[in-house]
Amino acid sequence: MVEFVFENKLSSNADVKVIVTPTSTVKCDKFCTDRELKSLKDAIKTEDFKAELGTFASVFDGKTKVMIAGIGKKPNLFDIQTLGAKIYQRIKNCQNAQILVAENPTSKLKPLDIVYNLAFGMELGGYSFDKYFTTKKESDFPKLEKVYFITEGQKISAAQYNNLRSVANAVRYARDLCNEPANYLTPQVFADDIKRLEYLGLKVKILEEKQIRSEGMNMLMSVAQGSHNAPRVVVLRWEGAEKSAENEFGLVGKGVTFDSGGISLKPSSNMGDMKGDMTGAAVVVATMKAAALCKVKKNITAVVGLVENMPSGHATRPGDIVTSMSGQTVEIINTDAEGRLVLGDCLWYLQKNFAVKNIIDVATLTGSTMRTFGFEYAGLFSNNDKLADSLYAKGLESGEKLWRLPVTKEYDRLIDSDIADMKNCGPANGGGITAACFLQRFIKPENAWAHLDIAGVDRDDKGHPLTPKGATAFGVRVLSKMIGCY
Ligand code: BES
Ligand code: MN
Ligand code: ZN
Repeated sequence: MVEFVFENKLSSNADVKVIVTPTSTVKCDKFCTDRELKSLKDAIKTEDFKAELGTFASVFDGKTKVMIAGIGKKPNLFDIQTLGAKIYQRIKNCQNAQILVAENPTSKLKPLDIVYNLAFGMELGGYSFDKYFTTKKESDFPKLEKVYFITEGQKISAAQYNNLRSVANAVRYARDLCNEPANYLTPQVFADDIKRLEYLGLKVKILEEKQIRSEGMNMLMSVAQGSHNAPRVVVLRWEGAEKSAENEFGLVGKGVTFDSGGISLKPSSNMGDMKGDMTGAAVVVATMKAAALCKVKKNITAVVGLVENMPSGHATRPGDIVTSMSGQTVEIINTDAEGRLVLGDCLWYLQKNFAVKNIIDVATLTGSTMRTFGFEYAGLFSNNDKLADSLYAKGLESGEKLWRLPVTKEYDRLIDSDIADMKNCGPANGGGITAACFLQRFIKPENAWAHLDIAGVDRDDKGHPLTPKGATAFGVRVLSKMIGCY
């Protein structure tokens, strides 16, 4: 990745200079030569550049490219991040870039916040997943090596960027996991990868199949049993508060490394997208990584259930009844409603073994929620207004927007079974809500809980400046904000 230099230093060999400004009147004599400045002013005139957010004017004088990027009058931090990603696209084939953030008297944002959020946006928007190309040449990849950030009269430092850098690192880590195909990222490989995070001071415990069985996680096992790839349950703990057993947050993630639907097999179109059915787990693990990198002063415990949902002679049949870790029995109507079976046991495992104040689970859980929100919002479900409101607010701040749906008795009734305590799915309509009701049956009533259904927003097929095509890792930014990384 690109190296950022936060030293208010001019580079002598910049091949591109970017001026980030709220007005089209540029006066930055120290940053540009007279000649550069003059041609830039001409460009501003001919291109009728008004410095609105996300607009550009540029000139190339034969040696250095000089660019002016508008920031508008009242940008928010998310706008700045998006602008950073757009700047990245325009300069990625230069080698050394210099970015000057001009004073903006009309904005409440400090130039420093602008600098760090531009860099953050560049890191998110500059992500790509290249490891499986074998014939591309070096010249096919971006050439950008260093970006020198400069502000007018402000002290900037790499240390101040640390928290945003950590969150960007976590987002990129999660995207790597989600883009990885299911033949490489099996539950075991995923678990081994998580284990490597111990170098950051995280405690990682892996439960293998034998232990999963002896814990009584039969719902999770019922999903895993059709596959040759054995399941794993991974428990991560970050102890950032003084030694105390209590956790401010408990995070749970759905890690279905591939969801074929099982015996209730999915149709073949786009089935390959189901390699991303482990996004919830990746998001939770990456958030733990961010917590460790930022050294947040809270205790947080995470549990992720890693399984592959496949049809075979060993697979669970529709109509089977399994006993969950909680003791409640479940009639399996549809083996494609597997995420809730995995989460139910993981939620129970978390509450049985740890004291947690706030539980948040993340899952690509239902097509129903995807059809409700399209690509804009993720579904938020909760038994606690305070937790839900706080997630809603952090969603707006982070740009990962959440919208709350009900989890109420009328819907919960729909998953009662005639021959067991519950069914694993209700009628087709309201499917995202009945899925949440299922999860709530595995939450002890005294615990605050929220469920994020990120089906649909987990990948971007069109590409947005901050989320290039492919896995978005939706959830890392809002959860990192929630736990206090930034
Ligand atoms: N992983 C899917 C949900 C999903 C769909 C995620 C599309 C991302 C994009 C989940 O396991 C599933 O298959 N859900 C079913 C449940 C139904 C059978 C009750 C669904 O939503 O169709
Ligand atoms: Mn499914
Ligand atoms: Zn699934």
